Amino acid sequence: MKIISGIQPSGELHIGNYLGAIKNWVRLQGDQKNDCFFFIADYHSLTEDYSPKEKSKEILDLTIDLLALGLGPKKSVIFQQSQIPFHTELTWILNTLVKIPELERMTQFKDKVKKQKHNINIGLFDYPVLMAADILIYKAEAVPVGEDQIQHLELTREIARRFNDKFGKFFPEPKSILTETPKIMSLTDPTKKMSKSGGDKSYIALADSPKIIKEKVKSAVSDSGGQGKNAGLTAQAGGDNLLSIFNALAETKEEKVEYMNYKKDHKAGKLKYSQFKPRLAELIINYFADYRKKRAKLSKNPEYIKKVLKDGVDKASAIAEKTLKEVKKKIGLTI
Ligand code: ADP
Ligand code: TRP
Repeated sequence: MKIISGIQPSGELHIGNYLGAIKNWVRLQGDQKNDCFFFIADYHSLTEDYSPKEKSKEILDLTIDLLALGLGPKKSVIFQQSQIPFHTELTWILNTLVKIPELERMTQFKDKVKKQKHNINIGLFDYPVLMAADILIYKAEAVPVGEDQIQHLELTREIARRFNDKFGKFFPEPKSILTETPKIMSLTDPTKKMSKSGGDKSYIALADSPKIIKEKVKSAVSDSGGQGKNAGLTAQAGGDNLLSIFNALAETKEEKVEYMNYKKDHKAGKLKYSQFKPRLAELIINYFADYRKKRAKLSKNPEYIKKVLKDGVDKASAIAEKTLKEVKKKIGLTI
């Protein structure tokens, strides 16, 4: 199966990114039947406030993270979106197939309009069409993402259908692939998804030190937390969220059994957070120990990271160029 996904270089990765998306990327590249493409969506990241001084470091750091988590240049094509001009060229063509109200309906756009009132730029609005181009230019069949990206993927399928109806069958309609934890919630407000924009204490970064992880888990909202009219909802969601993180990171048989017991206690209203939380912190710390080691090693070799991205661009670019050529022919631009 042809598989593609991307991630924005904008700050550190958190366990929501890993458990919702990257965990699946690593799994999917392990199947020889899959043809996997994963990229750094740097053009998408320009739609938010950013510092030009930081950007190139963010791109390299994210690539290091992906490699440290297990993506490999032998198994997947790993590349930087902005180095392949064909994505944005296809975006222009696809733009003419999309209606303004369709983009106005996008939940992520509406959320970001509220969050960055001072910078409601056209890129933010057109974000889903660039995403559709990223996917369709490789004729991908499946896209592993977290739940928040499903609406964008539905639009991608609609664009593919529209193109096929108008110009003849060409693009597959890509499906989404979700993990068992497609939406990890914020530690400080479990009614919202865990996100970089939720503030430092709301997420666990993969690069957090063991000490910080312990502190963050300890102060996470659980069954005793939450006040006001959402208190009941928040309380339940907080406990469920922490349990689902435990479950997703439990690898051994013993850890699975441990999870079942915690779950039973939680259901009966008897879960002792004073015991459960330190165990959860320990599980997170151990799970990402190997990642932290690999990351430290890879950080010492920026030339290797640049080479991985360059090789990826070479491979992806050839495919993207071919698709764009075919598209131009189909829509009548080739004289
Ligand atoms: P953020 O919301 O922190 O800025 P991104 O938009 O860069 O994260 O998301 C990168 C990938 O991680 C996407 O596939 C997205 O669906 C997934 N993802 C982000 N947050 C979560 C979450 N809380 N739970 C599960 N998956 C998530
Ligand atoms: N919009 C995605 C996110 O915020 C990133 C992304 C860009 C993407 N292009 C893509 C994901 C293509 C999958 C396929 O996480």
